[in-house]
Amino acid sequence: MATSLDADVRPIIPDDIARIVIAPKSYTDDATIYGAFRWLREHMPLGIAQVPGYDPVWVVTKHADIKEVERNGKLFHNADHNPILVDQASDAFTRDINGGSIRILSSLTYMDPPEHASYRTLTSNWFLPGKISKLEDQIRMLARQSVDNLLSFDGECDFVRDFALHYPLRVIMTLFGVPPEDEPRMLKLTQEFFGVHDPEEQRPEMAADPVVAAKQWAASIEDFYTYFDKLSADRRERPTDDLLSLIANSRINGAPIPRDEANGYYVAIATAGHDTTSSSTAGGLHGMMVYPENWAKVKADPSLIPGLVDEAIRWTSPVKHFMRNATADTQVRGMDIRAMERLMICYTKSLRA
Ligand code: HEM
Repeated sequence: MATSLDADVRPIIPDDIARIVIAPKSYTDDATIYGAFRWLREHMPLGIAQVPGYDPVWVVTKHADIKEVERNGKLFHNADHNPILVDQASDAFTRDINGGSIRILSSLTYMDPPEHASYRTLTSNWFLPGKISKLEDQIRMLARQSVDNLLSFDGECDFVRDFALHYPLRVIMTLFGVPPEDEPRMLKLTQEFFGVHDPEEQRPEMAADPVVAAKQWAASIEDFYTYFDKLSADRRERPTDDLLSLIANSRINGAPIPRDEANGYYVAIATAGHDTTSSSTAGGLHGMMVYPENWAKVKADPSLIPGLVDEAIRWTSPVKHFMRNATADTQVRGMDIRAMERLMICYTKSLRA
């Protein structure tokens, strides 16, 4: 194993494991992907994946290392490169259509200190437990409606399609301020936005394109912008107490929030808020089918439900990775990381492992 003392010998992840971790398709096959992460955690918890067509990246798989990197926003930037790993051809296309910049979406995930903090604080109070608990009655009502809908099926339904996709979507869109009739549009755009590598979600005209990831990403962002421009103008004229009004009317450095940054915020909330929670809702039920003894325990003692929610998020790991790059030469786990090298932070059940 390489250490800082033998800096020329760097820990290169074996080719078969590296290809699994980098290829989006592997994440549809539990046995393959968990096998690869198990190997990495046991043998090379911090190693370099070199896969043709992709930038070489440090693959970070241990909880402690992930925390260390994430907590140091000055040393490890999100957005000098793409905060999501895609192939080099897709990144080149994005730069091409975006005046040389990789920042195609001005959302928090594309921001670093000090810009990140000024945008994050705009909404952080809104998400504090005190504020959220005031919304509890409204959220409970939506939960009841969704459970009633579930019970209206005659003993059989598709849990993902008929429940897990819709309840979190309803909650987020209601708090955000998107009218219910537009929820299907938000769902479709989110699935395209996050599903750039999923043949089921690819726009037909782009499926065979080598830079499909970048093209579809750009197209769905444009559609989101068209939609949110209108809603944002409406909330500026007629503010309500929803999250959209808060963002639309917020100020940065004394001036109204710029259009791209407002839209970046809207897209982040309209996508990240329900896609993640739908996955953990469906994954939680799946987990109880795999471990029926846990299902029996929760049925017998509903006070276990908060723990079940946490465990469903851990077990499902709805977000698979984010990227960082070192801003200066540094070390993690005794390894020399050089300035501008990229790190792939892998959340897949790495939490607590
Ligand atoms: C199971 C639920 C969720 C999971 C697993 C999850 C996971 C994550 C992860 C891993 C990040 C990246 C953190 C980083 O780069 O250090 C993130 C960022 C973010 N998430 Fe979530 N998330 C969830 C729910 C939500 C919800 C409900 C919302 C909005 C209502 C949301 C909005 C965001 C935003 C705006 C960011 C960017 C934050 C920043 O850079 O400061 N997420 N999330």
